[in-house]
Parts: sequence; structure tokens; C-alpha cells
Amino acid sequence: MLNIIKVSNDQQFNEVGAGIIAGLLQSNPRAILGLATGSTPVGVYSHLIELYKQGLVSFAKAQSFNLDEYIGLAADHPESYRRFMNEKLFNHVDIDLMNTHVPDGTAADPEKAAQEYTRMLEDAGQVDLQLLGIGHNGHIGFNEPADELQANTHVVELKKDTRAANARFFNSIDEVPTHAMTMGIASILKSRQILLMARGASKADILARALTGPLTTQCPATLLQTHPNVVVLVDEAAGGRLS
Ligand code: F6R
Repeated sequence: MLNIIKVSNDQQFNEVGAGIIAGLLQSNPRAILGLATGSTPVGVYSHLIELYKQGLVSFAKAQSFNLDEYIGLAADHPESYRRFMNEKLFNHVDIDLMNTHVPDGTAADPEKAAQEYTRMLEDAGQVDLQLLGIGHNGHIGFNEPADELQANTHVVELKKDTRAANARFFNSIDEVPTHAMTMGIASILKSRQILLMARGASKADILARALTGPLTTQCPATLLQTHPNVVVLVDEAAGGRLS
């Protein structure tokens, strides 16, 4: 089932997104969160920190698994997703860092590290809420458009357009890693609930294709149509082509 929530400004976007996560933690303090990076969830994480400071939510018993990480970036690299998560959320709330998981971008054997991440996810049980952004090419996590998609956490070569889109965070596109480790499509679809978030007019076309187009591995987000419980949080611009 697809539930679309359209909001009219950033503040509402952040409040609604954070409210969904906080509501889950209030009813299930031991919730397993699947987390995303990128620019879309930043304000949602900031608002969650506010709710934490107001005593309205606690992460003390929660666990988290992030979707992805760049290969080759150490945890303390300014653009690593581990550092992003620490700075944008974890360092400001009461989550135990030991209970936060981000794929290891510097593992000597990335394929083995990917298998290990899959095992950790399976051992933890079902993710209760998976946050997702969407790439302009329809990627979710770093599952890029391809003839075939992978089920579990794996190493992926990033598409040129993905590296170009993310170059805004680096000095130049040459500094953007060429590979990443990402949860696979099956790992994402196993989650009890998915919160797909998109903001801005540049996401309108791909979001409409993802939610209403034919299922295809060339737009991995179309596979979200097979999930029984997806909430789509959009602003007016990103939701402009959704009825
Ligand atoms: C981030 C991730 C990516 C982003 C997507 C959108 O962990 O897996 O799929 O969600 O690239 O990025 P933004 O939010 O920067 O537009």
C-alpha cells in the first residue's frame, strides 16, 4: 500500500518525517531503523534532535543500519556516510554508537565486508522502518539502474550521473569515490515499513516513474511498488506529477 503525504514547506516536511520516526520509537523503543544519508533527510534528523532535546523521543534502546557507504572513505573522512550520520544525528541523541551500523568503506576485503553486513542485518531481525531518498536516476540506496539487481549488501560501481550529483559535496567529481557498498533491494524490501522522502522539482519525474511506472531494474525504485507498506513524504514540487 502506498500512502502519499504531501506537505507545503520544509518545516512541515521535517516535522512529519521526524514525527513518523519518533512515533515508532515511542511505541517500540527497541526499533531497528534503516537510515539514509544525502541532503533530503538532513532537516528530518535535525528535527529529531529537537524532539530528543524536548524529552519526546529516546534512541537508547534503538539500533540502526545505514543503507550505504562510499568505498575508500574512512569513517572520519568529511564526506563518509559514517561521519555524516555521527554529525547529523548520532552525536546529538542518546543512541549507543555500538548499536549504529554503517557499511565499512575501508574494509580490506569489501565483498566479505558486504556479506558480513548482510549477516548482521539478518541477525538483528526485521528493520522496522527504512528511510529512503531517491536518486535522479531512480536509485535507492546505491542500487543503480542495471540489467540485474542484487538482493543483499554488495559492492557497486557508481554511475557517472550519481557521481556528478554527489560532486557538490566534494572539491571536484574526481574526488567522488567510484564505488560504494549498499544494501541490496531484497534487504530494503524486507523492512516492515518504508519511508520514501523526496523534495524539489528535480525529483518530480523520477518519483512519478518510480511510483506509477512499470517495474524495471532500470529504475530500481519502481520495485517499491511491490512493498505492502510504503509512506511517501513529498513537498509540492517533488509530488507535482503524483495525483
Ligand atoms: C543515501 C542514498 C541515496 C540518496 C539519493 C538521494 O544514503 O542511499 O540513495 O538517498 O541519492 O540523495 P539526496 O537526498 O541528496 O537527493
